[in-house]
Amino acid sequence: MSTFKVLVTSQKGGVGKSTVSANLAAYFRRQGQTVTMIDFDTHGSSSTWLTRAPNIGVVVQHHILPLDQGGNRPILDARLHLRRAASSTEVVICDLTWTDSIAGELMFEFDLVIVPTSVSEIELAATAGFLSRHRWVFDSAIHTPPTLLVSPTRVQPEQLQSDVFSKQRFPVSFMLAPPILEAQTAREMFERGYLMDLQDACGASFNEFGKSVCAARDMRESMQGARQPATANRVMRSTNFSSANPATASAKRNSLLSTTSTLSSQYSILGRHRMQKIRPDEMPAKQAAHTAAPPNAPIAAMSIPQFLKRMSMGVMSK
Ligand SMILES: Nc1ncnc2c1ncn2[C@@H]1O[C@H](COP(=O)(O)OP(=O)(O)OP(=O)(O)O)[C@@H](O)[C@H]1O
Ligand SMILES: [Mg+2]
Repeated sequence: MSTFKVLVTSQKGGVGKSTVSANLAAYFRRQGQTVTMIDFDTHGSSSTWLTRAPNIGVVVQHHILPLDQGGNRPILDARLHLRRAASSTEVVICDLTWTDSIAGELMFEFDLVIVPTSVSEIELAATAGFLSRHRWVFDSAIHTPPTLLVSPTRVQPEQLQSDVFSKQRFPVSFMLAPPILEAQTAREMFERGYLMDLQDACGASFNEFGKSVCAARDMRESMQGARQPATANRVMRSTNFSSANPATASAKRNSLLSTTSTLSSQYSILGRHRMQKIRPDEMPAKQAAHTAAPPNAPIAAMSIPQFLKRMSMGVMSK
């Protein structure tokens, strides 16, 4: 099995990149994999976390990229560190705050790009902007694009039920991870332990997130092994892109997304939470009409809020 290379990135600060990176590294290590976590951020939050928390056996590196030098230097450095780490471990996770001085080509080095985002309108809009600028990467027909996993983080319990989700549509193919809940206990784990060991809803949500990353990996590997035919549909993409010819090379490569609905509903804490709290048949009719897309609406035609709501009502698996 080849090394699984994961980039956790966003242009926004404070969205949870370092929390996700450190804890995902620990999660994979606990699964018995050899793991290196490379912290490319000046703050060094994720490397500090793993260095000071009880040793779980993750190899930790902290490299500051020469972003002020511009040109190709930053990505050459990043590539070098990544490839070195990949030669000796089964999983490499990189924590990086994206800036415009980083060439987008760097993303082609990775199997999975995780973009943490809160679900506030302002942050989803910023995330959509970031993805839009890198659409050429995720939809590349020339290079193998990384799988994109948009990961709602720091999600407040009340946001699972309210209508805060943005009207924003993401302009690229993506998979949606189950949300990681906001909790004081998560903050308290910094340098002390790991989210996967929390016995509360936040811990459970992180474990579901970890499972979804493993599932995304399995799907990508089986897809690359099977080289599926061109008929596969891309399930989750914005309507901006859904008018494009589905039989493009990138559509072939992204055929794993055809099972995303199963993945998301299977692993979604949001889904389970909603299924427990408000089953569709228990919802007031007005609320149901307001929050859900028409039952027969194709997933590809849904906006993010509609998708999340469809998912949260547990109807995607039907
Ligand atoms: N699930 C969560 N629940 C509560 N607080 C969280 C959660 N995830 C992250 N935080 C807190 O949010 C803040 C930012 O998190 P983190 O440092 O992981 O984000 P970041 O994107 O790496 O930030 P930066 O851009 O500064 O590197 C921290 O105080 C962290 O403890
Ligand atoms: Mg950070």
